[in-house]
Amino acid sequence: MESIQGKRAVQIDAPELLARIAGYQEVLLDIGAGDGRFVRQMAAGCPARFGIGVDACRENLRANSRTAPTNALYLIADARALPSALDQRATHVTINFPWGSLLSGLLAGETLLLERLAAVARPGALLELRLNAGALAEVGWALADGGEQVHQALHMAGFQVRSAIALGSHELRACPTTWAKRLAYGRDPRGLYVKGKYRG
Ligand SMILES: C[S@@+](CC[C@H](N)C(=O)[O-])C[C@H]1O[C@@H](n2cnc3c(N)ncnc32)[C@H](O)[C@@H]1O
Repeated sequence: MESIQGKRAVQIDAPELLARIAGYQEVLLDIGAGDGRFVRQMAAGCPARFGIGVDACRENLRANSRTAPTNALYLIADARALPSALDQRATHVTINFPWGSLLSGLLAGETLLLERLAAVARPGALLELRLNAGALAEVGWALADGGEQVHQALHMAGFQVRSAIALGSHELRACPTTWAKRLAYGRDPRGLYVKGKYRG
């Protein structure tokens, strides 16, 4: 699988990945990691946690991957084709403000995507998803309806999901991702927070 460190793409194999995450109590997998800020912050804030950021786009990951702490790693991969070396490794899966094929796959309940999300989660793994109104509107969904649609897809995939909680500019400002900050000060600072657990 391809990992990124600044401008350098580095191939790492499954044994190397396992060696990197060995001994960590928590493995956080952030899918659609964007510029990787969230993973960096989550890893820096807890030495017992290993953070893995995955995104299909390498350009945005360059800065944060160059100076990532030793307990963080960035992979270039499509969420629908997450490397099998990640299977059953994540104790915590996050998807923050998806757009593009990640969002459309969640809305459509795309089998490939949902199967890979379920495969990487350990039984009992925590799932946290944040959706924003603007991204949903761009693909023709109202916030509440889009949230419900994604909720159902995750439920079908084996996640026990709680009712969504509304996010406004205050909550978005407190959320440590680059996109959350942009949304908080943007035209439509509305979102939804969905929390669940993988039933296994
Ligand atoms: C709005 S950005 C959010 C970035 C970050 N999570 C944040 O909160 O700052 C959405 C991200 O999803 C990524 N993405 C979209 N479709 C994807 C896919 N199929 N697989 C992996 N990443 C995807 C994009 O490349 C982009 O970085």
